[in-house]
Amino acid sequence: MGRVVVVWSFSPSPTVLSDPAAASSSSLLRRAGGVKTAHFHSQPCRRERRARPVAMSSAAGSSSSSPCPPAVLAEAGETGGREERCASRSVSDAIVGDIPAGLLPEILSEALVWSALHGLVVGDRNVPRSGNIPGVGMVHAPFALLPVSFPKSLWRQACELAPIFNELVDRVSLDSKFLQESLFRTREVDTFTGRLLDIHAKMLELNKTEDIRLGLHRSDYMLDSATKRLYQIELNTISASFPGLGCLVSELHRNLLNQFGKQLGLDSRGVPGNTSVSRFAEALAKAWNEYNDSSSIVLVVIKPEEHNMYDQYWLSTIIRKTLAEVDSEGELLPDGTFRIGGRTVAVVYFRSGYSPNDYPSESEWRARFLMEQSSAIKCPSISYHLVGTKKIQQELAKPNVLERFLDNKDDIEKLRKCFAGLWSLEDSEILEKAMESPESFVLKPQREGGGNNVYGEDVRETLAKLQQEGGRGLAAYILMQRIFPASALTHLVRDGTCRRDSAISELGIYGAYLRSKDKVLMNDQCGYLMRTKVSSSNEGGVAAGFAVLDSIYLT
Ligand SMILES: Nc1ncnc2c1ncn2[C@@H]1O[C@H](COP(=O)(O)OP(=O)(O)OP(=O)(O)O)[C@@H](O)[C@H]1O
Ligand SMILES: [Mg+2]
Repeated sequence: MGRVVVVWSFSPSPTVLSDPAAASSSSLLRRAGGVKTAHFHSQPCRRERRARPVAMSSAAGSSSSSPCPPAVLAEAGETGGREERCASRSVSDAIVGDIPAGLLPEILSEALVWSALHGLVVGDRNVPRSGNIPGVGMVHAPFALLPVSFPKSLWRQACELAPIFNELVDRVSLDSKFLQESLFRTREVDTFTGRLLDIHAKMLELNKTEDIRLGLHRSDYMLDSATKRLYQIELNTISASFPGLGCLVSELHRNLLNQFGKQLGLDSRGVPGNTSVSRFAEALAKAWNEYNDSSSIVLVVIKPEEHNMYDQYWLSTIIRKTLAEVDSEGELLPDGTFRIGGRTVAVVYFRSGYSPNDYPSESEWRARFLMEQSSAIKCPSISYHLVGTKKIQQELAKPNVLERFLDNKDDIEKLRKCFAGLWSLEDSEILEKAMESPESFVLKPQREGGGNNVYGEDVRETLAKLQQEGGRGLAAYILMQRIFPASALTHLVRDGTCRRDSAISELGIYGAYLRSKDKVLMNDQCGYLMRTKVSSSNEGGVAAGFAVLDSIYLT
């Protein structure tokens, strides 16, 4: 029988699951529970918030909502009977994943109420129309109950990298030859990347330049437990998600630590301020301002169905259109102005358009092409989008390539330090190594949105299959060194149910870049997002159901 995990549901009866994976927690990355640390100054999120009504707080926080409080059982079946669970009350003093068992229901209740009152919500997939109509069928976003501890020095390192990556993206985006050549072999076997490159090539033919360039990026990192080094997983240049909700999770955790910090031995000031939403909104507003047409709008390009709409609404509530709607309603004036619904679009902010699924017909491709030709500021432009492909990440990691784009040697050194091993599959030596020890690698196609990477034994099988098919298909992938972060026991809350499990975390640092010709108007680190997933899961997507939103506690 494996280790016992407490699952506490907001329904009256708690559930106990047996989880063999929840074993190791000694790590660099540990849940903040029980960690005492030096304090430092942090800034509050700038958004205005309503204070939570005291009466509601005490009612929701009362353990009366659960006649059977959570408890740790020594050994139990998967869903032990109610009597059996309640019989374990005698161990109420036990520590549950560093949270005293008696405190868990109260913290959970507080967190769930706080989420509902403060907009930490997503559309509930079980409710029809929740992906289309705001205010219908909301459920709290999945979150970790307490922040995860993170070394201050590595946090600083990750923050420092943001403006350097911003600049790198901008420089690389201007080198069309580099982009086209690096992705040349990929396009032969990957139609989606091929279509993006076609748009890019057409812009070159039209001599189209982007004088005002806006990037809203998120660079993702994992801490490797063996080397204790921070490695970049990837850089997202399109549709970087959760600037709205990630910021709220930091606030949730600070709020919980303000209330329960004494009992937990934690201080809310350990959670750094998270400015993601206000800084991204600022970047969009500055770009709009630079366009210099007071009647113009910011257009958010969305999917036909979007359960993560509230994350987007935190940034902009103005005009939202799908690619298909842009195709049918948008027009391009002879002078390059992009208009939709009779209004001029200053900024196009893409929260769709990064995956082949976003282009089910030619209509969506026409819309993308139309917007790209226009004088609207695209976030991202087709060039910025291509810079964020995994193939370009791998090309940039080759010796002497960063030097083509950046002058500052210190900056180059800082970037290189966070690059994991990255290889093209044209390299036969590395191909052999991957076949021998597939568990040390991740095989990645040119895709975004999670769920596409290949891990473990599947790496060997996929490579063997691609080789048998003649090897052409190998160009669709890159190979990456697999990073193994340390795991920590975590309380993961999804659908009102709290489950304790062994989990690993991935830190995303947001960065915004705005340039108008030679003037850099903004180049900043803009807050962060921690995502935490059970150790047994390879992929990390929150929306895809693999991970929960989290924040950090600096140590
Ligand atoms: N080298 C690696 N080592 C360990 N895990 C990895 C590695 N690369 C990716 N992963 C895991 O797979 C997830 C998805 O990988 P990646 O970010 O490269 O793909 P994506 O489809 O672009 O995802 P996203 O939707 O986050 O942009 C990551 O969040 C991480 O959990
Ligand atoms: Mg990505």
